[in-house]
Amino acid sequence: MEMEGFAPSGSTEAELLQRIDEGRLPRHLAVIMDGNGRWAESRRLPRVAGHREGIESVREIVESSALLGLEALTLYAFSVENWKRPRSEVRTLMTLLKRYLRRELDRIHRHNIRFLAIGRIGELEESVRTELQHAMSATASNTGMRLYVALNYSGRAEIVDAFNLLLGERKKNGDAAPVDEELIARHLYTSAVPDPDLLIRTSGEMRISNFLLWQIAYSEIYITPTYWPDFRRRHLLEAILEFQKRDRRYGGLQAPCEGGR
Ligand code: FPP
Repeated sequence: MEMEGFAPSGSTEAELLQRIDEGRLPRHLAVIMDGNGRWAESRRLPRVAGHREGIESVREIVESSALLGLEALTLYAFSVENWKRPRSEVRTLMTLLKRYLRRELDRIHRHNIRFLAIGRIGELEESVRTELQHAMSATASNTGMRLYVALNYSGRAEIVDAFNLLLGERKKNGDAAPVDEELIARHLYTSAVPDPDLLIRTSGEMRISNFLLWQIAYSEIYITPTYWPDFRRRHLLEAILEFQKRDRRYGGLQAPCEGGR
């Protein structure tokens, strides 16, 4: 794949990009960003230094994914379990998120990215909600990549929310048609995009951690020992190349025809 301005010619990134098959990119990429704390500890730095550096990775992966032409990127930024962390760490994460949105909104906009927060957003503090709302409305008419940031997110809670939404609609409309998979999928937070083709988890942990439980039924999983703050454009390209080597069978014997899911 060729792309002007993506990486200086002769660089590792340019060489990796050349090996990527443009016709077989993941449409939706999901990422469990893990290892910020360990990155910091390995450098004898406070954990928050890992989160701060992690923001640089977020910026690079968001922009690279948009340049590659992915339809959707979903980042797991804060799980419902993360409230158990020390208050100061939670506060820092929220501050970093707000700062990222404020500083990057212009660039997000210039890349034609549509920003969307998913999760139980109503439970976040007001200043965070205001910033999220602002970023969502400012980018609402962008037509490029959808950037979903999962905050106060849990895959099980998402399914519960989908059921409640559905039950509410049914009560209102008196509809009693049987529930099927498509109907449930239409009520999830990510109903506007196809399921992730590729799920990346950094820092080597072999867990799903309650992320996109419904949507990852057939996702290819790529786990790398690289800590999130070290995960940059080169690592993204390596993950996509590995994905392109996989034989996706969806439970059948051979890969479905091009464009099939
Ligand atoms: C995992 O590292 C990372 C997180 C819990 C937070 C990820 C959040 C950011 C990078 C910042 C905000 C996000 C956006 C989208 C701007 P860890 O602390 O669990 O690392 P450890 O497992 O090594 O302790």
